[in-house]
Amino acid sequence: VLIMVVSIITIFGGKIEEIQKRGVLLVGQDPAYAPFYGVNTKGERIGYEVDLAKMMAEVLGVKLKFVITNWDGIIPALLADKFDFVLAGMTITPERAIKVNFSTSYYETGQTIFYNTQKYPNGITIDELKKMGKKAKIAVQLGTTGEFAARKFFPEAQILTFETVDAAAYQIITKKADVLVFDELYYGSISKKYASIKTIGKLLNKEKLGIAVKKENLDLLLWINTFIECKKTDGTLDQLKQKWMVD
Ligand code: ARG
Repeated sequence: VLIMVVSIITIFGGKIEEIQKRGVLLVGQDPAYAPFYGVNTKGERIGYEVDLAKMMAEVLGVKLKFVITNWDGIIPALLADKFDFVLAGMTITPERAIKVNFSTSYYETGQTIFYNTQKYPNGITIDELKKMGKKAKIAVQLGTTGEFAARKFFPEAQILTFETVDAAAYQIITKKADVLVFDELYYGSISKKYASIKTIGKLLNKEKLGIAVKKENLDLLLWINTFIECKKTDGTLDQLKQKWMVD
């Protein structure tokens, strides 16, 4: 009976209390995923998801700390308790949901194809890329749904994987790769820095972003769902979109 009571407590309670006792909310992210997070010239972390995390910490009455890890190891790091949850533009997928629980979605996006108009002045189409076969070089961030989509849509192409999205994007900026496959929302940041980078203007798929929480932290998951629902209803999510996505 005692074991049952203890396990029920660890399943249904405790994580929020743990965070409040600690006095700091630990949020897992990778180095940069602009315009959702990144570091400005003053060295401060800024972006849509940074604002969201700040609001969460404020309601919980605790300080906020971002714990930075490689994208490829972000789920293992969550499972190893390096932070309380992942708020890092993570696409909700049934495969990932075997390992972690996802909150309700706070943002919709999809995979698209980015290219450099200096290399392709007339643009490039999905069909043209397919026809390039083995010659096509597609840059992706390792372990992202962009990598999965690139492998699915262009099975013959050379897929070049990189630790960060900025490193993958650098391949099209320097014209070493033909295209980058990544979340459409990234266009809001890269197009500002490099006017020659465009997308094909179409999505390969649709995806929803959610916050990933450890399976046993159901109290935290339910609180996050409520938080997102309230921020949707009161217009905060729309305001954040306006603030960070309008160019
Ligand atoms: N949404 C995509 C995925 O879940 C890409 C996320 C990349 N996120 C990042 N923080 N670099 O795989």
